[in-house]
Amino acid sequence: MNVPLLLRLRAADGAFVPIEELGETVQDDLDDLQKRGFALERHPYLGVAYRGPSMRLCPDQIEWELPSRYIGRKVAVWHRVGSTNDVAAASARSRANAGLVVLAEEQTTGRGRRGRAWVAPPGTGLLMSILVFPEPSIASVPWITALGAVATAQVVMEVTGRPARIKWPNDVRVDGRKIAGILVERGRGVVIGIGLNVSFDHAMLPDELRDTATSLTILTGQACDRSEIARRLILTLDRLYAQGVAEGQAPLGALWTGLLEPIGRTIRVATRTEEIEGRLERADLHLGLYLEFASGESRWIPHTEIQSLDGEVQASPTP
Ligand code: BTN
Repeated sequence: MNVPLLLRLRAADGAFVPIEELGETVQDDLDDLQKRGFALERHPYLGVAYRGPSMRLCPDQIEWELPSRYIGRKVAVWHRVGSTNDVAAASARSRANAGLVVLAEEQTTGRGRRGRAWVAPPGTGLLMSILVFPEPSIASVPWITALGAVATAQVVMEVTGRPARIKWPNDVRVDGRKIAGILVERGRGVVIGIGLNVSFDHAMLPDELRDTATSLTILTGQACDRSEIARRLILTLDRLYAQGVAEGQAPLGALWTGLLEPIGRTIRVATRTEEIEGRLERADLHLGLYLEFASGESRWIPHTEIQSLDGEVQASPTP
């Protein structure tokens, strides 16, 4: 696929680009782009104009001059798999696969946290798993999970221009509606699974999710290019991972805390032994959540003790 041609057409922002500007082999390459599903308008005198992305994932577009140091050194795009996390985990037998990104159009047994299923109609979501072998300074599951959530939230903000937030522990939400979830699994290496809702519209959502889920298409009102979004996510993950390798866990920890949704609000937390309600004053990737109670007492609740968190107990003024 002629990726520079695609980029040239896309950069013209819907305007016609004269054929003479596009090189000799252009007619074949334009046929090829159209066969791959890109919407192009070809005019005998005006030239050719980009009208929309392909609905299929395009490996060439994702990998084009990808400057990955850690994440995205290899990219594998599948049509249908059980779970991309399983494909990535199976690749962990070889360390040469460090940084592998697995993407699929469809998962038949996609899974979420706490044994739930992760369901996305074929071609509508970004279903991505990344295999890493983190060095000791960043080899903690909370840090790796936060990496997935922060990177996804940043890409959602770039694409939609809307504030994305992280709902504890790692759901990415916009306006209180879930747009992405992260599932980190540890085996020989560590697999970061990211499910991002891209092309659902309201009609495709089951009734029970209509008020609680959203997608990039719902938020932007237009078709989104999943290959472009996959590429941005890989670039963002790679940048944050490289920062972790160079500077340790603190910078990403601060980003995670800054994006955490219920800071300053009263929340209800269920632990194995109690249900407590308090104002969330601070959060730390490793220490947990710091709650202040009506009694004036305050303390850290470790993440590992928290079974569920309800962040909408009552509206309390943000300081
Ligand atoms: C959650 O919010 O419960 C986490 C959802 C994680 C879903 C992704 S989709 C890609 C990867 N493969 C899976 O089977 N799960 C993760």
